Amino acid sequence: MLVVTVDNPPVNAASADMRQGLFAAIDHAATADEIIGVVITGAGKTFVGGADIREFGKPMAEPLLPQLVNHIEASEKPVVAAINGAALGGGLEIALGCHHRIAAPVAKLGLPEVKLGIVPGAGGTQRLPRLAGVVAAAEMAATGRMVGAEEARALGIVDAVADGDLVASAVAAARDLAGRPPRRTGGLPVPAVDGEAFDRMATKVLTCARGQDAPGEALRLIRSAADRGLAEGLVDERATFIRLRDSEQAKALRHVFFAERAAAKVDGLEGIEPLWVAHIGIVGLGLMGSGIAIAALDAGYAVTGVETTAEAAAKGRERIAGLLDRNVASGRLDAAGREKRLARLTVSDRMEDLAEVDLVIEAVFDDLKVKTELFKRLDASVRPDAILATNTSYLDPDVLAAATLRPERVVGLHFFSPANIMRLVEVVRCAKTAPDVLATGLAVAKRLGKLPVVSGVTEGFIGNSIFSAYRREAEFLLEDGALPQEIDAAMESYGFAMGPFAVFDLTGLEIAWARRKRQAATRDPNERYVEIADRLCEAGRFGQKAGRGWYAYPDGKRTVDREVTALIEAARAKKAIVPRPIEADEIVSRLLGAMAAEGDRLLANRIAQRASDIDLVMINGYGFPAHKGGPMFAAGRT
Ligand code: 3HC
Repeated sequence: MLVVTVDNPPVNAASADMRQGLFAAIDHAATADEIIGVVITGAGKTFVGGADIREFGKPMAEPLLPQLVNHIEASEKPVVAAINGAALGGGLEIALGCHHRIAAPVAKLGLPEVKLGIVPGAGGTQRLPRLAGVVAAAEMAATGRMVGAEEARALGIVDAVADGDLVASAVAAARDLAGRPPRRTGGLPVPAVDGEAFDRMATKVLTCARGQDAPGEALRLIRSAADRGLAEGLVDERATFIRLRDSEQAKALRHVFFAERAAAKVDGLEGIEPLWVAHIGIVGLGLMGSGIAIAALDAGYAVTGVETTAEAAAKGRERIAGLLDRNVASGRLDAAGREKRLARLTVSDRMEDLAEVDLVIEAVFDDLKVKTELFKRLDASVRPDAILATNTSYLDPDVLAAATLRPERVVGLHFFSPANIMRLVEVVRCAKTAPDVLATGLAVAKRLGKLPVVSGVTEGFIGNSIFSAYRREAEFLLEDGALPQEIDAAMESYGFAMGPFAVFDLTGLEIAWARRKRQAATRDPNERYVEIADRLCEAGRFGQKAGRGWYAYPDGKRTVDREVTALIEAARAKKAIVPRPIEADEIVSRLLGAMAAEGDRLLANRIAQRASDIDLVMINGYGFPAHKGGPMFAAGRT
């Protein structure tokens, strides 16, 4: 038996060398009489992490991945995949080319190509439906969802889940299969398609994919696998793969992929180990605090939540239990998981109950006085070596740090609401934050399943600084002649799920109004200031919750409101601005330009370490379409 271990760190990607090596191994097995079969497995945590993304855009050396997969499938001797970890994209395609698949319980299988703006290019769209059926295969390929070993077995993607030694089981299976005609995935018929189930799934997938080309193409390729032969399907798949690989969307999504890895590399943290955190305190169990608590409980932390009164603490616990119930109802969590999480949760109205925690995250009302007082009390209540983290959005965390005796142990952890769902966390490096404290903030956020991005201290950090610039320019556009619905439509057709004014209405107008009032005294009188939002707030139009904001919401439906148009016209007239029609292209380029200019300022002031960090913040916290790469990428800054 020939056991081939793919050992190509860090993720065993199918680079040119790897493809050549594996191809040669199959050739060798074919000619060596003493070899009766082949087992392919991966070294380390991964089986094969997919095609080598770094090779995209460069000339490709033979054998190409489809040639390798076909070669494996064509082998007369049995080839068994021993899937030890992640088998993704080209990695799963290699496994599908094998004649038998055994997975370790920790294995993860998927076709995540759509997340890179492409479709599988080495047979995934043609072989997966032959094993899993068209609907399941199409759902996986069009969303990029990974499945675990058990689900893969239930779907027929793997033949068995190994309960003992994976490679030994695979060797035994290959021995069993030796001498018999190999079961080639490509030779299997595609099971009959349930057309209605396919259409239901496709509608759902396409709604989420708004503006992206790859998911629709993945659906098309897999749907048509049922109606044509393998060879024809493979030709179409490869042509589609190449076309999409060279598209702007794929370039943008590749940028995002590498941006996510780059964000973890933070200046000054080389060789710094994070501190041990097992128990997290959360002060304030409102919407934000409860969301953070859920994320922490999901990640296996013990959580102590503190509120001002016993009643509020009990309410917080109820809210958290309610959120867990929702996860049980949606099938994301089972009853035992819910109980385990609640067993790790304590709530209290006493600061002293935080004495044992390793890290406290405060998520109370965003008011400097309230937070400064709280930080002083925390400083006195928690262990001297515990980390104090603030979830403030706008306040200066250096001021909070200065209120304590441990400013070097203060860090910002700026979550986005709902904190159990939103992936972004801005990890704020304050003037005195110690490197191991910053590293701990990053490590905890990562363990919470979040995407941490480091920001320096400036009002609103990275995200809200850029968002303010976006808001300001959107308001200039209003005065210059565009209406909210025109601006929203332009940004929605660019790819945002919601335009800026719809977002303002959703999040509410009063917080920004309060900030503007605070800033009024110090505002430069020569600065262009648009008063329209103030007029809206004065009229009680605080957004969707109030039933009226930039739009009206009869029956909850966003509707253009003449009263708003009249307010805008009055504001223009007051400044003697003659409005002009503004095309969608100009709207988009002005708003993107404003974001990029603010991004330049953040880079110049070292608030953001790199342009791609800014892109990640805007994509993951503010709905910037990932397939456009973020505001800095779109402006050619990266
Ligand atoms: N090609 C090249 N480099 C890759 C890579 C790939 N497919 N996948 C990961 N890497 C690199 C990362 O850039 C990172 O490099 P760095 O250390 O220099 O920053 C390093 O490997 C480690 O990556 P992660 O930090 O993501 O490691 P994790 O252990 O957290 O995750 C993983 C491992 C689950 C395999 C994850 O890396 C992943 O999801 N990778 C992408 C998988 C993917 O999209 N595959 C499909 C590729 S397209 C394809 O196969 C086309 C085919 O159909 C023809």
